[in-house]
Amino acid sequence: MNIQFVDICVGLSWGDEGKGKIVSQLSNQYDFVCRWAGGNNAGHTIYVNGNKYATHLIPSGVFHGIPSIIGPGCVVHKESFFDEINYLHKNGFNTKLVKISPKAHIITEEHIEEDKQKYNKVLGTTAKGIGTCYSDKYARKGIRVQDRKEEFKEFIWDEKLFGKVLCEGAQGFWLDIDYGNYPYVTSSSCLPHSACTLGFAPQKIRNIFGAVKMYDTRVGKDPDFPDDLLCNQELMTLAQEGNEYGTTTNRARLVNYLNLDKLISAIEVSGTTELIISKVDIVEKTNIFRYYYQDILHTVDTLQQMKDDIQEILYSNTSLLKNIIFSSNPEKI
Ligand code: IMP
Ligand code: MG
Repeated sequence: MNIQFVDICVGLSWGDEGKGKIVSQLSNQYDFVCRWAGGNNAGHTIYVNGNKYATHLIPSGVFHGIPSIIGPGCVVHKESFFDEINYLHKNGFNTKLVKISPKAHIITEEHIEEDKQKYNKVLGTTAKGIGTCYSDKYARKGIRVQDRKEEFKEFIWDEKLFGKVLCEGAQGFWLDIDYGNYPYVTSSSCLPHSACTLGFAPQKIRNIFGAVKMYDTRVGKDPDFPDDLLCNQELMTLAQEGNEYGTTTNRARLVNYLNLDKLISAIEVSGTTELIISKVDIVEKTNIFRYYYQDILHTVDTLQQMKDDIQEILYSNTSLLKNIIFSSNPEKI
């Protein structure tokens, strides 16, 4: 059977845009849910039947009984992978659905140690050995899952995708190695074109679901998010009401007003067709209606005005965007 079509969910900011929620809502319609990049630096929060779950590496299809593939472009820390498998198993999910490409690279203890020593403080990495593992991969001296076949046994998957495929992005557009604020980026490609490394042609891509919040957040170091943001009482209020803490590292996220200039670029370059803007309730609750556009901070009086402005600005400045959905529900779109 051939691949019918591929849909992709991508973060349009700096991660933490609620991709897990979107993938969770959509996944029932697909034969596979796949990840194409990154490792357990990600954090996907998922609600199933009112219960909250979190994974870092394993795609969220497993929560919905769908085969979940960790692709060749991903990096895998063995212990963390099996910790997640045990966690899923304990919570009653079918872990037989989880599969790893034999081409995925292994994160070793040395990678983690080097990340901790050299990059965690300087770049604000998650200290999971991501960049150091990718360094070895691109230097062509990495260790792959296929070199440790015995250890991964029934999880290894070397077959072709077929039917309907959903790809789950990790991190976000502005953390991308090429598009982000280098070197304050992650070491993989977060853009949808990279999902093709899972083994399908670009022409198979149908919808691209772009995820963003009503305000921007950033965890880890970034000169574009200076510490004086912490002195802005309004932004601190958004951070508190929005519970802005990293899923993976529990670090506080820096908050800024939604930057529409950046969002326009992210939508255009990623090819987003469906945009999901979440945490509208936080902005509503706090009565903070501001956004950046053409480098100017704009302030409006009502939530409706903010939504109208966003729609008009985004539709008139992008060429592929078909729908914008505003979401207030932490569990559903
Ligand atoms: P690394 O991916 O651990 O090398 O971290 C590089 C940068 O990306 C740091 O600023 C991290 O905070 C950030 N980062 C990596 N993964 C995520 C994520 O899933 N959400 C938000 N930020 C992330
Ligand atoms: Mg996340």
